[in-house]
Amino acid sequence: MEKSRPYITLSAAISIDGKIATRTGDSKLSSKKDKTRVHKLRAKTDAILIGSNTVRRDDPMLTVRYAKGKNPIRIVLDSQAGINPKSKIIKTSSKIPTIIAVSKKATRKNIARLEKHPIEIMVAGNKNIDVKKLLTLLYRKKIKQILLEGGGTINWEFVRQGLVDEIIITIEPLLIGGKDATTLVEGEGFAMISKSKKLKLRNIRKLGNELVLHYTK
Ligand SMILES: NC(=O)c1ccc[n+]([C@@H]2O[C@H](COP(=O)([O-])OP(=O)(O)OC[C@H]3O[C@@H](n4cnc5c(N)ncnc54)[C@H](OP(=O)(O)O)[C@@H]3O)[C@@H](O)[C@H]2O)c1
Repeated sequence: MEKSRPYITLSAAISIDGKIATRTGDSKLSSKKDKTRVHKLRAKTDAILIGSNTVRRDDPMLTVRYAKGKNPIRIVLDSQAGINPKSKIIKTSSKIPTIIAVSKKATRKNIARLEKHPIEIMVAGNKNIDVKKLLTLLYRKKIKQILLEGGGTINWEFVRQGLVDEIIITIEPLLIGGKDATTLVEGEGFAMISKSKKLKLRNIRKLGNELVLHYTK
């Protein structure tokens, strides 16, 4: 565990060719068995963190439904505070603690719209969200463990800054293809293999027709 920031576990379901959604945004890759595994993992973590585009495309609840246990805090990285107030995350915010992380570029109007809901708004960064600063703020709020659940753009931001401590990936027995389909890690990517830190393969688990891979730093 790092001293001044939460421990980050990247979690995702990917196709054999490394996609996390099709070009149209369909991301329903997982089996019920794998959902149960992920929800058990969610129940053990302090918070789940996702990017604004995953909210836009999937409208997820980010709760523990396929297993028993407490719901973690939901954190959305939404620099402009543009999240739809009708999204499930906002609509369930009176029952499940929710943090919307924004940057200073979020307009007063957008912030005021969010303030009508029982969510916490955290400001970190001027234009884009300063992820390291945000993690320090979250750690001060006693959030010690975060499950990073994508999408690809947010995953890159954490990978780029060396903030991923552990990775648990399910490989689904599918090929999706398409240059416009979202991959596990998007963004610019590393220019050289030597820039990418080699991970340790800790465990391989066969879950029916799926493969769960567990890596650490
Ligand atoms: N298979 C799986 O396990 C899985 C899991 C999750 C998502 N997905 C899929 O992934 C797709 C979405 O991925 P995505 O890459 O398009 O979007 P994303 O990573 O969900 O969100 C990206 C957005 O986050 C916001 N953001 C805030 N702070 C940021 C920062 N510091 N750095 C970068 N972005 C920041 C930016 O929007 P603002 O500028 O508006 O803030 C950015 O456009 C969806 O189709 C979803 O279904 C699949």
